[in-house]
Amino acid sequence: MVLGVSGGIAAYKSAEVVRLLRRAGARVQVVMTEAARRFIGEVTLQALSEQPVLTDMFDLGAESRMSHIQLAESADLLLIAPATADLIARLAAGMANDLLTTIALVTRAPLLLAPAMNVHMWQHPLTRANLERLRLCGRLHLVGPGEGSLACGDVGPGRLADPAVIVAAAAGLLEPKDLAGCRVLVTAGPTHEPLDPVRYLGNRSTGRMGFALAAAAAARGATVTLVAGPTDLVPPPGVEVVRVETAVEMEAAVVARYDGMSAIVMSAAVSDFRPAAVAPAKLKKEPLGESPSVRLVRNPDILAGLGRRRAAAGKGRRRGAAGRGPVLVGFAAETDHVVEEARRKLREKRCDIVVANDVTAAGAGFAAETNRVTILGPGDACEEVPLLGKDDVAHRVWDRVAALLCGPPVEGIA
Ligand code: CTP
Repeated sequence: MVLGVSGGIAAYKSAEVVRLLRRAGARVQVVMTEAARRFIGEVTLQALSEQPVLTDMFDLGAESRMSHIQLAESADLLLIAPATADLIARLAAGMANDLLTTIALVTRAPLLLAPAMNVHMWQHPLTRANLERLRLCGRLHLVGPGEGSLACGDVGPGRLADPAVIVAAAAGLLEPKDLAGCRVLVTAGPTHEPLDPVRYLGNRSTGRMGFALAAAAAARGATVTLVAGPTDLVPPPGVEVVRVETAVEMEAAVVARYDGMSAIVMSAAVSDFRPAAVAPAKLKKEPLGESPSVRLVRNPDILAGLGRRRAAAGKGRRRGAAGRGPVLVGFAAETDHVVEEARRKLREKRCDIVVANDVTAAGAGFAAETNRVTILGPGDACEEVPLLGKDDVAHRVWDRVAALLCGPPVEGIA
């Protein structure tokens, strides 16, 4: 893919866009405008993209390796981040007065613009008209801009979208759409079980795996609902987000949306217990006396409940079809006997697939950007996945789910 960088203050964020694209496995050819070079060094983008950065249409060395026409024709996506008002105007006018606008005019690939500019520039009727003109040419996709305080001091729309959101939008345009027409639900993050108005019982889950699963499913064309416990992560674009705090709230959110789902992936780290009572006011340490003890009660096992519900609805039918129950995927975060424990959960919770990981292994588990998992099921199937970014692990899981959704009826799992 080609990443175009035009000259605005947000150009410095293109470094993070390149880093995330590379981490997602994309081959990135960076093309900068002259103005962009004033905002970010090409050495930075070259180092991150592991490719020489292109700027000059008349660079004979670069042209002899691959002409700008070949580059434009071979690109599967042209992403421009940031796209300034000037660059959008030149694209809309069909100009080809530098390398980036020339590539934009030649390529047949989708064009994804991540605009970033002053709020008045963004709202200006000429900018609106320019975008409309580009839209009429087809192939135009926009990500952002976001709202907030801008580098110029104004507040409003004009901020470059978050780099992770830009990369998710790019992935969405590149992935095969094998989950198109499917509705899927993913749970993510920890649950917080309150003790009093200021304290809770929680766990170390960050939600990264679940958010990666939601982004990957959306990129593959699914309609995605993400039921998220407390986390600061930015949700992927185009995904319905339902925020919950406790296991009981998460269960209600999932159960209410069960009907019509093709797949439910429970990647949340649901607390098995909650305090039997929530103190209405903050628990104080005075008067001094015995240390208080907290009585815990069991939370519902959401996944086991879904497995029971599906089993009651009938066996041996194709998963994901209307009225026949969704594909059920569980996660098993283990510290010992990882595969044996995950197999037990696969059986006892009656799911199709369990993704097992040793949360104590290097590069795996909570907060890590990578994960090393074993995917168990359906039946005796067992795939050891090497250490990969959580985005790639997410795609491996959806590969399995997609195969089940398209495959023959599954006998005897429910
Ligand atoms: N899960 C759930 N509801 C719970 C606990 C877990 O739906 N109350 C789901 C998780 O989202 C995950 C799977 O069940 O998909 C396994 O979770 P895990 O915490 O590994 O297992 P537990 O069921 O808690 O079993 P154990 O305490 O024996 O490890």
